[in-house]
Amino acid sequence: MSRYAAFVLFLFLGFEIYLSQGIEVKVNDKDDKLCLYANLMVNFSVEYETKDNKNVTAEFTIPDAFTSSGSSCDTKTSTLKINFGDGHSWSVNFSLSNKTYQADSITFSYNLSDSTIFHDPLSNDTVTVNTQPHISDVVMDTCYSCKSKEIFTTDAVSQTLWNVLIQAFVVNGSKSENITSCSADIPVTPTTVAPTTVTPTTHTTAAPVTNVTTLPPTTPTPTPPPAIPPTGRYSIKPDENSTEACLLADFGLRIGLKQGEKYEEMNLDTNGTKVSGFCGVNNSELVLEFATVTMVFSFINESQRFRLHALNVTGKMSSGVAFSEVNTNLSLWETALGSSYMCNKKQNDTITNQLSLFTFDLRVQPFGVKKGVFSTAVDCPADDEENFIIPIAVGAALFVLILIVLLAYFIGRKRNMATGYESF
Ligand SMILES: *[C@@H]1O[C@H](CO)[C@@H](O)[C@H](O)[C@H]1NC(C)=O
Ligand SMILES: *[C@@H]1O[C@H](CO)[C@@H](O)[C@H](O)[C@H]1NC(C)=O
Ligand SMILES: *[C@@H]1O[C@H](CO)[C@@H](O)[C@H](O)[C@H]1NC(C)=O
Ligand SMILES: *[C@@H]1O[C@H](CO)[C@@H](O)[C@H](O)[C@H]1NC(C)=O
Ligand SMILES: *[C@@H]1O[C@H](CO)[C@@H](O)[C@H](O)[C@H]1NC(C)=O
Ligand SMILES: *[C@@H]1O[C@H](CO)[C@@H](O)[C@H](O)[C@H]1NC(C)=O
Ligand SMILES: *[C@@H]1O[C@H](CO)[C@@H](O)[C@H](O)[C@H]1NC(C)=O
Ligand SMILES: *[C@@H]1O[C@H](CO)[C@@H](O)[C@H](O)[C@H]1NC(C)=O
Ligand SMILES: *[C@@H]1O[C@H](CO)[C@@H](O)[C@H](O)[C@H]1NC(C)=O
Ligand SMILES: *[C@@H]1O[C@H](CO)[C@@H](O)[C@H](O)[C@H]1NC(C)=O
Ligand SMILES: *[C@@H]1O[C@H](CO)[C@@H](O)[C@H](O)[C@H]1NC(C)=O
Ligand SMILES: *[C@@H]1O[C@H](CO)[C@@H](O)[C@H](O)[C@H]1NC(C)=O
Repeated sequence: MSRYAAFVLFLFLGFEIYLSQGIEVKVNDKDDKLCLYANLMVNFSVEYETKDNKNVTAEFTIPDAFTSSGSSCDTKTSTLKINFGDGHSWSVNFSLSNKTYQADSITFSYNLSDSTIFHDPLSNDTVTVNTQPHISDVVMDTCYSCKSKEIFTTDAVSQTLWNVLIQAFVVNGSKSENITSCSADIPVTPTTVAPTTVTPTTHTTAAPVTNVTTLPPTTPTPTPPPAIPPTGRYSIKPDENSTEACLLADFGLRIGLKQGEKYEEMNLDTNGTKVSGFCGVNNSELVLEFATVTMVFSFINESQRFRLHALNVTGKMSSGVAFSEVNTNLSLWETALGSSYMCNKKQNDTITNQLSLFTFDLRVQPFGVKKGVFSTAVDCPADDEENFIIPIAVGAALFVLILIVLLAYFIGRKRNMATGYESF
């Protein structure tokens, strides 16, 4: 029993150590009830010019001695303000809308006259910079948590934030046990390219929260890769009264988006997809509106061949990152008119520097569809490889089988002769 108690005490102490590492601020409202809680770590890196015209970088953090005067809470807005050193301050403004809150701006002021930080600066002014943090859609009555490093850079100033736990608009004077995690803390896909952001390891177990709600933008949870996306079957008719399609496209789609150091993939769910577009003589278009992503495929008919020549993809990834990527100079799926293009194997095509398109079980025909069905398929090189391998494998297997049968026959025959039986 006492051992158990010691263990609990150990956990508790671990938790306390974790807290004391960061800057902890508790702001009370006019009724002296807790209305804003923050615990975070922040590093500043400020570049300034010295009197001998050199550019120097000062790195500093918030010291243990700081005040929170200037912090305040209102019904719809609140401010966290930390004052430290000789006239430096760091503050965050929050606003509440409906069921979520967000941080609207971070204001950082530094006093170049502080000789403990800045040595021989040309100017002795107090400089103020504003940045827009990515803290949004935090569910009301939850803490925003972000263990990952987030770096905000503006001109001469770089601010690094990590191990952040903030609850603006505390309800009934007690901090919530539930958290809304930042997208950087949520493992997105197993294929995520190793992000350089370092998640502090040792403290995670002592995290004071157990019930995790993810950010709302992730709600339409598409099946995460590597599960193969469902194959959608899409068609366009020449007009509303036609019974037969003039454009056919079957495929499963996945998109990969690069955002700085981060890379994220998302499968597109066929459920509820809106299909539109048109068939033309020289151009055809297929527009697919998925839950959070819209894709416009533009095909061209040129010199007796067709190809996908433009792709416009706009929307939001499951992490909530919005994007819009267009390439109008593509040459994909090129095939002779009167055929369809087929590629059963997974294909990875680079659309822009940021966007990759992955297709699965692809078959398209944007021109010359007869009787509403695909024309003869032209296979992609990757499929051909496979088709080439299979007959060779089957042939080799048959050859081995024939050898075995022949061998068995001769062995059997020899034995029978040895025992004196006649055999036919
Ligand atoms: C923060 O700054 C301190 C001192 O400048 C440095 O040792 C530390 O590595 C920095 N931490 C991060 C996460 O940048
Ligand atoms: C800036 O620092 C100088 C020197 O430490 C100090 O005299 C001055 O009051 C500070 N400015 C502000 C706005 O606090
Ligand atoms: C700040 O600079 C001005 C002129 O650049 C100078 O007159 C003043 O004395 C300086 N103040 C301090 C505190 O160094
Ligand atoms: C917080 O978690 C508790 C327990 O799971 C739950 O009852 C409550 O509704 C949650 N609150 C919010 C705001 O999600
Ligand atoms: C977390 O949620 C579970 C049920 O979902 C609840 O039993 C538990 O008390 C919650 N923990 C906290 C710390 O709110
Ligand atoms: C479709 O048929 C309706 C009724 O037969 C007709 O009024 C309409 O103009 C036709 N639409 C097209 C595009 O042919
Ligand atoms: C598609 O959505 C409908 C309702 O929106 C739902 O009933 C159905 O189960 C979904 N199907 C799949 C495969 O997700
Ligand atoms: C299609 O292109 C050909 C030659 O490129 C041109 O002569 C023709 O007018 C175009 N047709 C349409 C409908 O744009
Ligand atoms: C791509 O699509 C978006 C949204 O539909 C649109 O705003 C944008 O103009 C399109 N870009 C191009 C080059 O067509
Ligand atoms: C389009 O791509 C081709 C080759 O893929 C290239 O030669 C051409 O310069 C590109 N045109 C534009 C406008 O980017
Ligand atoms: C897709 O192709 C790009 C460029 O060829 C490559 O960098 C990337 O690793 C590929 N991604 C996958 C998942 O195969
Ligand atoms: C492709 O375009 C040519 C003219 O550019 C046209 O004659 C032909 O009918 C078009 N083919 C299809 C299938 O639309």
